Amino acid sequence: MISTNRHIVLQASPFHLDNNDLYQRWRDTKLNAYPETLGDLVVELNDPRKLTESEHQKLLDLCQKTNMVIYAGKTGDDPDPKIPLSMGRAFNLLELDHNWLADKTGLTSLKVVDDGARQNFIPYSNRAINWHTDGYYNRLAEQIYSMILHCVRPAEEGGENQLWDHEIIYMMLRDKNPDYIKALMEPNAMTIPKNVLHGQLVRPDRSGPVFMITDEGRLHMRYTARARNVIWKKDALTQEAQQTLRTLLNSDSEYQFQGRLEAGQGLVCNNVLHTRTAFKDDKENPRLLYRGRYFDKIML
Ligand SMILES: [Fe+2]
Repeated sequence: MISTNRHIVLQASPFHLDNNDLYQRWRDTKLNAYPETLGDLVVELNDPRKLTESEHQKLLDLCQKTNMVIYAGKTGDDPDPKIPLSMGRAFNLLELDHNWLADKTGLTSLKVVDDGARQNFIPYSNRAINWHTDGYYNRLAEQIYSMILHCVRPAEEGGENQLWDHEIIYMMLRDKNPDYIKALMEPNAMTIPKNVLHGQLVRPDRSGPVFMITDEGRLHMRYTARARNVIWKKDALTQEAQQTLRTLLNSDSEYQFQGRLEAGQGLVCNNVLHTRTAFKDDKENPRLLYRGRYFDKIML
């Protein structure tokens, strides 16, 4: 039984499969003047801690179009966590996911760590990370709707990110076959198996959809391409849908962006799909990125 409020939200959302006219109009607007290069996503600014009104507006405009924006500040390798935290506040992102490996600030310092609990997790290695959205293993009530990555020091070599607006991926799949979207919106489409570390349960199995419509009628995506991290629903349509999604993500597309955050640069996004390439560190100045994961959505 869908509540009245939820019904109103779904009726007004282009992402609901019943709304084909609305979807076609949304699609036309979305593709009109869609950015073509990574450079088109960059907003130069002075200091993210003191945004001017016009800097702020430019950031918001890009986020509105592509669900992501890259800021290029002049703070260089200043490790002040207030830089990404102020950026979050400027977007009204206030509720950080204080995961168990986060810093006291709520941000997470992403760097190579060879000991303790962190060494078991790929973000703290220099290995490549395949396509995913952040927090895909979180419970449904604690989804990561937005994310900030701020680069203090890039790697000596590598450590690039590929980025892909999840609304565009949704569109590509829906255009191929709307039934793929139907399958990937099922509440048991994708199960992330439990995580047990040294005999201790870190996280139970978590089932949920890939595509979700938020209470504001926007699109949210949970996904990881790491095959051993997912149990897909066994029916033929879900299998075909997830294979098609995987093939799409592995193909070249004008909508996929790739580049590296340099010192003082950062990404603000509505948890778009992303990867990381492997990297090599300069031992004296190892790669350091701050990551903020938020339960808030960037309100556009
Ligand atoms: Fe990530």
